[in-house]
Amino acid sequence: LFTGPVDFLKGVVAMSGLPPADRIEVCFAGRSNVGKSTLINALTGRKSLARASNTPGRTQEINYFTLGDSHYLVDLPGYGYANAPVKVVEKWQRLLKQYLSGRPTLRRAFVLIDARHGIKKVDEDILTLLDSSAVTFQCVLTKADKVKAKDRDRVLAQVRGALAKHPAAFPEIVLTSSEKGTGIATLRAIIAGLE
Ligand code: GTP
Ligand code: MG
Repeated sequence: LFTGPVDFLKGVVAMSGLPPADRIEVCFAGRSNVGKSTLINALTGRKSLARASNTPGRTQEINYFTLGDSHYLVDLPGYGYANAPVKVVEKWQRLLKQYLSGRPTLRRAFVLIDARHGIKKVDEDILTLLDSSAVTFQCVLTKADKVKAKDRDRVLAQVRGALAKHPAAFPEIVLTSSEKGTGIATLRAIIAGLE
């Protein structure tokens, strides 16, 4: 699906640090600890490309990865981390707004939602920001291996209901487990199909 190297390119803390907008770009947003970095590792087949950890709030920068010669994968810092200082949160929100509204090659934002918990208020805020930035977003449920079918179906219904209220939402929800490999090929194909 992708030809060329998979690599960490750079960590960015300001718009001036973004690489040239010369590739198809997708970003991964979601609450701290939802599994963004782990999902990027699974998608690229590189176990420790994006750092993953048990410590929420670990990824502080906008991290750029190359997926072949044609795509960037962008790992966004997690939101909703209760212990984050207000100043840090405000700086991050400013950068996120600038990034979402100022990146012409950003084709889709994947918003990761824990398959056990569904969409929370902090997620709703991001979805609203994506609507106003006119960035198409798609929800990805993570950690499917940790949820029983019945609870998963309840969460799927909740997410579906929430998406109906967001004009920028892409309707298909992708169920994933980075642990078991569920949904990873599907997500790779979705990314490869973006133009
Ligand atoms: P921040 O960078 O802090 O925003 O977190 P993140 O969203 O990048 O989460 P990260 O990938 O670091 O994963 C957090 C924890 O969840 C780690 O302990 C992962 O091993 C675990 N995890 C991620 N995905 C899965 C999954 O599909 N299944 C299971 N069981 N655990 C997962
Ligand atoms: Mg991370």
